[in-house]
Amino acid sequence: MAPMTRGKSPQNIPTPEIAQYYRRRVDGGVGLIITECTFIKHPVANGISNAPAFHGEQALLGWLHVVEEVHDAGGKIIPQIWHSGSSRSIGIKPNETMLSIGPTDKFKNGRQVVKGMNETDIFEVIHAFTQAAVEAQLLGFDGVEIHGAHSYLIDQFLWSESNSRTDEYGGSISNRVKLASKIVESIRSAVGKDFPIFFRFSQWKLTNYNAKIVRNPVELEQMLLPLVKAGVDVFHVSTRRFWLPAFEGSELSLAAWTKTITGKPVIAVGSVGIDKEFSLDMFTGNIQSQPKAIDLVEDKLKTGDFDLIAVGRAILADANWPNKIKLNQLDEILNFSSKSLASLD
Ligand SMILES: Cc1cc2nc3c(=O)[nH]c(=O)nc-3n(C[C@H](O)[C@H](O)[C@H](O)COP(=O)(O)O)c2cc1C
Repeated sequence: MAPMTRGKSPQNIPTPEIAQYYRRRVDGGVGLIITECTFIKHPVANGISNAPAFHGEQALLGWLHVVEEVHDAGGKIIPQIWHSGSSRSIGIKPNETMLSIGPTDKFKNGRQVVKGMNETDIFEVIHAFTQAAVEAQLLGFDGVEIHGAHSYLIDQFLWSESNSRTDEYGGSISNRVKLASKIVESIRSAVGKDFPIFFRFSQWKLTNYNAKIVRNPVELEQMLLPLVKAGVDVFHVSTRRFWLPAFEGSELSLAAWTKTITGKPVIAVGSVGIDKEFSLDMFTGNIQSQPKAIDLVEDKLKTGDFDLIAVGRAILADANWPNKIKLNQLDEILNFSSKSLASLD
């Protein structure tokens, strides 16, 4: 199950209903759940109302309950740990009035809204990510995923359009990946060698579907190899359509390139079992989707383009989607629509 924010954790505490929501997916055939993004212990990490925290006694107890339910049903689960960086709007709880942080200062209507990170801020963020991974291990999660995608803090460093720093964290892709690799390195040394670290990244941004952090396989390699060296076990390659070629001149998808370059296990994602790609319109509009067969996933698994496939909206809409696919009950699949987002069924 792909990570999907639900915004249904009041006071940023995951509720028993959230635990049941994840448990139902395991009962429905999901093998591994990657949770919705959950924010680390940094004052301005959260960027979404009612997103779950990954610190504080109450929130961690909530997560413990989630882990217990998922394990009891026979599934595996890892949290997606997250800092929203400059995409946070001032006013989001907690610490509503504090400035957001990001690679560089940002002003809106003459007022500062984002503070460019200094060495101390960088140290604090690395520390908070590390603390979250350690908590994940203590709570019994099966690994941890670092959210390095979709224009949040780590990705803001990766993408040249959002990173105009002139120090060692800006400029070339080798510099822009430094924050990410330092986070991975620090987590690895804290959790030991056997606790799986997943790293999710994307070319596309929530604000720009055509964005590119890397323009060719050479730049991709310059980004990925430092992350491998730092200790990533699994790459989660976020695309909106998993089969599309990543770069001109080759049919290989971004997941396939990632596997070729790193030799690590790779998760692909994007429009599996559903006829429309991810778009933000589904949150405000009235998007109706239809189920789709998954033959292409099977083909690409066979050719070794990737090792695992993550499924988002199809599983959000229908907890039993994996079992229905397994039993070929395609007619019984519940469609995803914008309305699916309202409930935790
Ligand atoms: C409601 C919703 C919330 C999402 N929240 C997150 C998130 O918290 N973290 C993340 O990395 N991706 C998030 N995504 C993206 C999904 O993980 C996935 O990559 C995307 O939906 C494409 O997969 P799909 O076509 O199977 O839905 C979200 C998607 C949806 C639909």
